[in-house]
Amino acid sequence: MKIIAGNWKMNGSRSGLDEMISALDNVETQNTVILCVPFTMVRGGTSRVAVGAQDISTHDKGAYTGEVSGQMLSDAGAKYVIVGHSERRAYHNETNAIVAEKATAALANGLTPIICVGETMDEKQAGKTMEIIESGVRESVPQNVSGKIIVAYEPRWAIGAGLTPTDQEIAAAHTLIAKTLESMGLAGTPVLYGASVKGSNAAQIMSIEHVDGVLVGGASLKSDDFIPIITSVK
Ligand code: PGA
Repeated sequence: MKIIAGNWKMNGSRSGLDEMISALDNVETQNTVILCVPFTMVRGGTSRVAVGAQDISTHDKGAYTGEVSGQMLSDAGAKYVIVGHSERRAYHNETNAIVAEKATAALANGLTPIICVGETMDEKQAGKTMEIIESGVRESVPQNVSGKIIVAYEPRWAIGAGLTPTDQEIAAAHTLIAKTLESMGLAGTPVLYGASVKGSNAAQIMSIEHVDGVLVGGASLKSDDFIPIITSVK
């Protein structure tokens, strides 16, 4: 059983989400299916599809114009929230410390955080991939969260670019993440791979050791693209 999570980024509509959920409700799968959507579309899911958000405030409530709290996300029906996505790290200066705070806020409100880590092209070219991944996990994952989180490895240079690392690179990154989590008392934490996943590469990527599922951007927007990813693995 794998975890297949979609990240709609700033795309879609409420009616489009309803249509997607109806389509996914008919898919026969044992896999866990999650759709992370813009705040305005967050709603309750179904027995087949869980709905998540793409960000969360570090604050509980109060004078934080434009922020959305974990309690509000829970109230709207979300079960998951992506924290520390590459685009938030790049465009909103989110650091590992902020990401850890967001993950803590999610957990305090009964949401499962999907905590993203990964290296930029500059970091990759400087030979720092492993270092960035390990510090990303150590610094972005809060304490005492066994069984309550998901981690996603997203090589930032590959997102939305149609690029994917080699199978060996994915295996090395996921093995390091699994070992790092184990050393933190978090053995068994699911680790997703994300960046340019599509129907044609999903099964191969999910056959790699320590890849427990995928986080899908562009190919999660249309049911014709997303369903083949969900059904590519048992
Ligand atoms: P992509 O995005 O699948 O479009 O590369 C992945 C992500 O940003 O989570």
